Amino acid sequence: MLTQDVILNALKSVKYPGFSRDIVSFGIVKQAEADGGNIKVQLQLTTANAPVALQLKAECTKALASLPGVEGISVEVLAPQTPGAPTPASNRVVGIKKVVAIASGKGGVGKSTVSVNLACALARLGAKVGLLDCDIYGPSIPLMMGVHGRPYVNEDEKLVPPVNHDVKLMSMGFLIEDDQPVIWRGPMIQKTIQQFIGQVDWGELDYLLVDLPPGTGDAQLSLCQTVPLDGGVIVTTPQEASLGVVRKGINMFTKVSVPILGIVENMSYFTAPDGSRVEIFGHGGGKAEAERQKVAFLGEIPLFTSIREGGDKGVPITVGEPDSAPAAVFLELGRLLRKQLGA
Ligand SMILES: Nc1ncnc2c1ncn2[C@@H]1O[C@H](COP(=O)(O)OP(=O)(O)OP(=O)(O)O)[C@@H](O)[C@H]1O
Ligand SMILES: [Mg+2]
Repeated sequence: MLTQDVILNALKSVKYPGFSRDIVSFGIVKQAEADGGNIKVQLQLTTANAPVALQLKAECTKALASLPGVEGISVEVLAPQTPGAPTPASNRVVGIKKVVAIASGKGGVGKSTVSVNLACALARLGAKVGLLDCDIYGPSIPLMMGVHGRPYVNEDEKLVPPVNHDVKLMSMGFLIEDDQPVIWRGPMIQKTIQQFIGQVDWGELDYLLVDLPPGTGDAQLSLCQTVPLDGGVIVTTPQEASLGVVRKGINMFTKVSVPILGIVENMSYFTAPDGSRVEIFGHGGGKAEAERQKVAFLGEIPLFTSIREGGDKGVPITVGEPDSAPAAVFLELGRLLRKQLGA
């Protein structure tokens, strides 16, 4: 019979990755029971680590499958419940030096535009770059990056991301059909993102940029816990900068102990045909808020028709018009982040 003792005994053969101790004596087995031939196991991790979660799930399933009388196995790996636990260095994704999230309090501020152009700018500066599009409500990044291909599965059963403009790209957009309504529940999003990180063959990367869904609610917070982040960048526009939206973004990163790299202000100004600077939404909002919140101000991106056109064409302005004023701002942004992060 599949008693709890029998199940636990089998689980004792599974070691916690990187340790000589088994997961039972480690105390992470939260539930172990069987209903007839169906075993249900729950593991509770104390630090967010997608590859460890995937590995544990696979090894537990293998260990339990050898028990006599087993008909079904469900192994659930729960993410940490308490925010604030920093990701230890040993939990890093192998091969990826720095993971940076791009967040915004509100939608439509140009977060994806900043993500793709920053990715391309870092690549132009000679870094190896990946971009992970977590925005499941409107995955626009493949279009902005001009990526029409899909990832394929290699012999190691890992997803190989398509590459364009020297940036490797994974997007929720690859996994959902164009005409399918996107109704993802929170846990499902988190699980999918874990797979994005752990099951993608990123190879060696200096930077993995993560475009979070707009907002600073629970969904975004749990993503910040799922992905081992080294820093967060907040994108804002001048008119929303002082409305507490930036502060919410800062609070979100602080809650999960992710260092804030700084604020980027988008749609800061417009250059009129006569060359004069028109500040449609006022001046200095982002910078002033950065000073108030004691975080770095990383730059002002102008409102520029070819920024939108570049996005629509799938050639970000940093690549398509590398000598333009906005491209210079994105390159400077890349340089500043490199300085802060190293790698
Ligand atoms: N600096 C800019 N100059 C001109 N157009 C811009 C600029 N920044 C963004 N846009 C345009 O504004 C629109 C919204 O930008 P984007 O999709 O990057 O915003 P987002 O914050 O990612 O939005 P969402 O919340 O929907 O994900 C796009 O059409 C984009 O091309
Ligand atoms: Mg977006």
